Amino acid sequence: MYFPDWKFWTVFCVLFAYNTYVQGNAHDPCLSATTCVACIRVPNCVWCSHKTTSLQGNKSHQCQLRDLMTYCPPESLVDPIPVQNILVVKQDELIQLHPQRVSVTNLRQGLVHNFSMQFEVVKNYPADLYYLMDVSHSMLDDKNNLMRLAPSLVETMRNITPAFQFGFGSFVNKNVIPFVEKTTASCDPRSHPEIGCPVTYSFRHQLSMSADVNKFTETVNSTSIVSTFDVPEGGFDALLQAMVCKDRIGWREKSRRLIVFATDAHSHLAGNGRLGGIIQPNDGLCHLDPDNTYIEALNQDYPSLGQISRFAKDNDINIIFAVTNDVKSSYQEFSKFVPGSSVANLDPDSENIVELVRETYEKISLSVEMIDTSGPEVRVRYYTACTGTLVQENNKCEGLKVGDIVNFTISIEAIECPANVSARTPIIQIKPVGVNEVLTLDLEIVCDCACEKPGGPGFVANATECNSSGDLKCGVCECDSSHSGSHCECRGNENIVELETKCKPDNATKILCSGRGDCFCGKCQCHKRPNSMEEISGTYCECDDFSCDRFDGNLCAGHGSCNCGQCLCNAGWQGSDCNCKTTNETCIPIGGGDVCSGNGVCNCGSCQCSATSNGRYCENCPTCPSRCDEFTPCVQCKVFQTGPYSADNEAVCNSECTYSIETQETVQVEETSERECSYENEQKCTINFVYGFDSNGARQVRVQQEPICPPPIPVLAVGFGLAGALIALLLLALISYRIVTYIYDKREYARVLKERECEQFEDETQNVKWNAGNNPLYVNPWVT
Ligand SMILES: *[C@@H]1O[C@H](CO)[C@@H](O)[C@H](O)[C@H]1NC(C)=O
Ligand SMILES: *[C@@H]1O[C@H](CO)[C@@H](O)[C@H](O)[C@H]1NC(C)=O
Ligand SMILES: *[C@@H]1O[C@H](CO)[C@@H](O)[C@H](O)[C@H]1NC(C)=O
Ligand SMILES: *[C@@H]1O[C@H](CO)[C@@H](O)[C@H](O)[C@H]1NC(C)=O
Ligand SMILES: *[C@@H]1O[C@H](CO)[C@@H](O)[C@H](O)[C@H]1NC(C)=O
Ligand SMILES: *[C@@H]1O[C@H](CO)[C@@H](O)[C@H](O)[C@H]1NC(C)=O
Ligand SMILES: *[C@@H]1O[C@H](CO)[C@@H](O)[C@H](O)[C@H]1NC(C)=O
Ligand SMILES: *[C@@H]1O[C@H](CO)[C@@H](O)[C@H](O)[C@H]1NC(C)=O
Repeated sequence: MYFPDWKFWTVFCVLFAYNTYVQGNAHDPCLSATTCVACIRVPNCVWCSHKTTSLQGNKSHQCQLRDLMTYCPPESLVDPIPVQNILVVKQDELIQLHPQRVSVTNLRQGLVHNFSMQFEVVKNYPADLYYLMDVSHSMLDDKNNLMRLAPSLVETMRNITPAFQFGFGSFVNKNVIPFVEKTTASCDPRSHPEIGCPVTYSFRHQLSMSADVNKFTETVNSTSIVSTFDVPEGGFDALLQAMVCKDRIGWREKSRRLIVFATDAHSHLAGNGRLGGIIQPNDGLCHLDPDNTYIEALNQDYPSLGQISRFAKDNDINIIFAVTNDVKSSYQEFSKFVPGSSVANLDPDSENIVELVRETYEKISLSVEMIDTSGPEVRVRYYTACTGTLVQENNKCEGLKVGDIVNFTISIEAIECPANVSARTPIIQIKPVGVNEVLTLDLEIVCDCACEKPGGPGFVANATECNSSGDLKCGVCECDSSHSGSHCECRGNENIVELETKCKPDNATKILCSGRGDCFCGKCQCHKRPNSMEEISGTYCECDDFSCDRFDGNLCAGHGSCNCGQCLCNAGWQGSDCNCKTTNETCIPIGGGDVCSGNGVCNCGSCQCSATSNGRYCENCPTCPSRCDEFTPCVQCKVFQTGPYSADNEAVCNSECTYSIETQETVQVEETSERECSYENEQKCTINFVYGFDSNGARQVRVQQEPICPPPIPVLAVGFGLAGALIALLLLALISYRIVTYIYDKREYARVLKERECEQFEDETQNVKWNAGNNPLYVNPWVT
């Protein structure tokens, strides 16, 4: 009996584990990662640098889901966990954003890390307001009203924040046709009696930031109104200068900065300068001369909306487009592109300027909107409940009150590992729009394993584990260009997948070397058997010499060798277990004869009889033609020394007639299998015999001793008989002749009679009746 031994169970277990491994692979992204770097780039996968070779329990993978990685020694585990450090938290009554600097290192690709940030609406936060006014002709009444309302504006703002400062600037347009009606040189003062012919300018900074209301009104009063021809104005030149000329304007470092851009006209944008022959683009720099006049107006084009937007963002300036209703819609379009900007409806005479500034300022200062400078490799999300309780994804809170603290949860997700190594440590600025405060985030996206880098823990150059043909990195060999294999044991540079492909018959097969060998450099090394007589072989270890058919416990019945699961039988044997003789000997009845008595086929050494026959040699066949002819020559030669085998053929008789032939006084059928035969010898005597088979199927014949001969025939009686027969024949011939002649004569006579009758009919006139005697033509035949 064949009992599976421990090796069998080992193989079974390996197969089972391998199967689960192969099946698991499809679903588990960890298991397909073959290097540490690939592993840690899959969320929740961890790497074990220690190669566990034991197969007890679960198959140990080097890359595994964190929860399943139970087998890795802690020092070999590579599982980057994000580390957060709050680097700077400055506390100051005028600081609204906490903390100011945070570092998050070891953030893996695909992983999200949360940290919190607070924004506080502090009381008495300084405010700088720059009033940028269109001083073209139509703004004359506005100027007067502004002058009148200035004290009230300052008063109102001071109530909100005591540290309030303000400045003033004015703009018209580039002093070049077609942007002005006439250049200053050709101006006729009589055409504008109220304003005369003041020099048209693009932008003039009139008053730097100051807390003095009187200075403000004076400045406004002293600002001349200038006529122009072209309706759109050059205000964006002024806007840009007001933002970038920080020192000249006097923007404070820590303050909420506002520019009120007051106009009743549209503004020229980049590209419009061409109309006046100005093609050089705006360089975005401060160009104020000592008189505080913009001097590049005739050299540089208007700024683009993008430049306005960028400088507003960079300088944390909130622009309030205070514009009249007829041009509001176009500024609303601009405002969409400029962060921190808003549009307010200015009365045609600026009567509502105080209310407008107050409302807009409150709206701006009592709201917070977070923005950041993250690149494509990082996604920053903001979650906050603002002042409520429902936390949701949101970067904007409005309607705050002074003293409110808004708690933001900032969620950073490393989306990808950038190819550019320097992009893996981005510095991200997170800040409220229009507030000169920032949270700097030093992020490090971890894309590599330290154990893969030379000098790192677990890195062994030219390692013995890698047959001195490669480096050991995180427990995996990285072979040099002339070696391959999991231990760099193979020559050539095929990768492991290519090598493994060679260890299985096709791609559909997942199991290497039929699960009974190890794939070594693309060749299967079949496992050894505990029994040294047994061997696994074949390119894919698909063959063995011990699993062939057995007979009586003997492999191939002991009559052949086992080759790849198939018996190779010795000469003379056949069958799946080599237990069949190829000769017909055992199918030939003892004492000779046809194979299976001619009534069947010899199969595996025994007869398979036809349907009508039975017996070991199919010798019993009641319905078959008798075999008497087969036995007759032997009966003749053995018993009567006659027939074809007798006399000169005595040797043949002895060789052919080997079965038992006995004589009996009388023979008759005694068993159903017996058949009766007879033949006649030369003496016309009948010889009876019976043939049958003994229990072994051997033929046996019983012959009747005495032939049965017919009695002798008497010669005399035969002679007389013959003579009598002759006479009788003669008589018969004579009689026959007589009968023939008689019939002829009778016919002749009848004919003559008829002829006579005809003649008589021709000349019968009177004599109607005559007889034969009166006829002259009638001749009696008997007389002549
Ligand atoms: C094999 O893993 C399963 C979870 O997949 C766990 O429940 C089981 O305990 C593990 N077996 C061993 C021997 O570690
Ligand atoms: C980060 O915070 C958001 C909002 O509170 C939450 O939905 C998310 O699950 C958090 N993520 C992590 C990794 O903590
Ligand atoms: C404006 O200036 C003019 C002189 O230039 C002066 O007469 C007038 O009083 C000033 N108005 C105000 C309100 O200061
Ligand atoms: C802000 O929220 C985080 C988590 O949502 C919490 O841990 C923290 O205490 C909060 N901070 C403040 C100041 O409310
Ligand atoms: C990587 O990014 C840095 C900064 O963005 C850049 O200076 C450098 O040229 C980039 N290197 C490559 C190879 O692209
Ligand atoms: C690796 O080590 C072997 C012996 O330890 C040495 O022969 C071989 O030159 C080394 N190869 C490299 C690239 O250092
Ligand atoms: C089998 O896999 C090898 C290597 O991956 C590939 O070259 C070959 O085309 C595949 N054959 C089939 C039939 O898919
Ligand atoms: C066995 O019998 C078959 C026919 O049944 C015959 O063809 C074959 O030659 C025989 N073989 C021997 C060894 O007699």
